[in-house]
Amino acid sequence: MPEIDSEGKNYHQDIKQKSELFFLKGSNELGWGMKNRLSRIFNPRDGRTIMLAIDHGYFQGPTTGLERIDVNILPLVPYADTVMLTRGILRSTFAPSVTKPIVIRASGGPSILKELSNEEIAMDIEDSIRLNVCAMAIQIFIGGEYESRSVINMTKLVDMGTRYGIPTLAVTAVGKELTRDAKYFRLATRICAELGAHYVKTYYIDEGFETVTAACPVPIVIAGGKKRPELDALKMAYNAIQQGAAGVDMGRNIFQAESPVAMMKAVGAVVHENETPEKAFDLYNTLKSK
Ligand code: 5RP
Repeated sequence: MPEIDSEGKNYHQDIKQKSELFFLKGSNELGWGMKNRLSRIFNPRDGRTIMLAIDHGYFQGPTTGLERIDVNILPLVPYADTVMLTRGILRSTFAPSVTKPIVIRASGGPSILKELSNEEIAMDIEDSIRLNVCAMAIQIFIGGEYESRSVINMTKLVDMGTRYGIPTLAVTAVGKELTRDAKYFRLATRICAELGAHYVKTYYIDEGFETVTAACPVPIVIAGGKKRPELDALKMAYNAIQQGAAGVDMGRNIFQAESPVAMMKAVGAVVHENETPEKAFDLYNTLKSK
């Protein structure tokens, strides 16, 4: 027989219940589940994230540095805020006891041997739920041959995710023939946000990146792109953050670095501690030599 509670008296009528605005740009009107998942991707302390991108195999096979994810990548995972990967790698290589938030690659189709913009949604929403993911990522090809299809696929993913509180990350992919400038990225990122993406991944550019982040009403994270010298990659991350990016979704510049763990920590210092690239590079070299 449960004890009968004699009603409490601690109603604290003098304390007004807090009603806080959500910390992420443009995300205040989202539902609780969406916000909770976004809060696992973006650190609520500073609104920023370090996503470790290791999904390259979905169109280009065993990329340099990703040949053995179990050996080379799992040791990096503790230093990332989030990992972006395919469901195949998640199930085959990550233990279910890894509690790191997952952003799942939800699009696919063509390989590097074909037209890359010819993508489709490549997983059911039910599988995203089964895998307990924090967001789903899909490529958008503005100006690409299959531009409309990629945009409509994104809107379908947004609709599916919205039913279950799972955010969508739109990844702006740039074909070789397109000019990577501020005008292009303002167009691409804004289309993603207007059509419902909860956050957008794009490339950093030296001229006018702050206009890209200003014109996009939801958070932007930058891709790392091709491997560059470590100091240059840290400068790029620093500039992007100072110009309004909410984080990085970096792959090759981390897992192809001479010391990937040191690079993860150095990028972490830039993103979460506002460390200068030069100081972060010193940290990288110190950690690398240990
Ligand atoms: C592939 C992707 C990758 O996740 C993205 O390119 C990030 O990796 P990198 O920093 O190596 O560019 O979205 O389409």
